[in-house]
Amino acid sequence: MSEFANRPLTINAAFLQELKEVNQELWQLIESLRTLCGEPMSMRQHSRTLVDLLSRLRDQLAMHFSLEEAYGYFHNPVEVEAALAETARRLRAEHSPLYLRCSQLADHAENLWRERDEAALTTVLPVGVDEFLVELKRHENGESELIYRQLYESIGVAD
Ligand SMILES: [Fe+2]
Repeated sequence: MSEFANRPLTINAAFLQELKEVNQELWQLIESLRTLCGEPMSMRQHSRTLVDLLSRLRDQLAMHFSLEEAYGYFHNPVEVEAALAETARRLRAEHSPLYLRCSQLADHAENLWRERDEAALTTVLPVGVDEFLVELKRHENGESELIYRQLYESIGVAD
């Protein structure tokens, strides 16, 4: 364990921002899933696409969250505003449950596909996917807000 592990958690705002900007594949996957789930009429023709997109989203999220945790969050040896540290801690703690939920959706989709349960795959599953995407967006928005706060506040400190 790092000697700073008990120090307040903070973010490397520039790195997190860059990571989010370059990760176009992730945003495109999310957009494709959102579009697909928003078109129930065409879902029947694209049920295999839904299964594949969810599997790719799971892999992308695993990489995205790992990179964020490895280089985007760190325990700061110097003072960090308590509210900021708490928000960073809460946001980082959301990664595991988000990944787990995406993984369950991907497994569920694959099982429904194998069982040829077209009805559940095209009507029930998309509702869960939609709900998950809302949660994921809320998490991403939270991180973006933290990035801007951090950038703004470090400018403030420099004054
Ligand atoms: Fe994140």
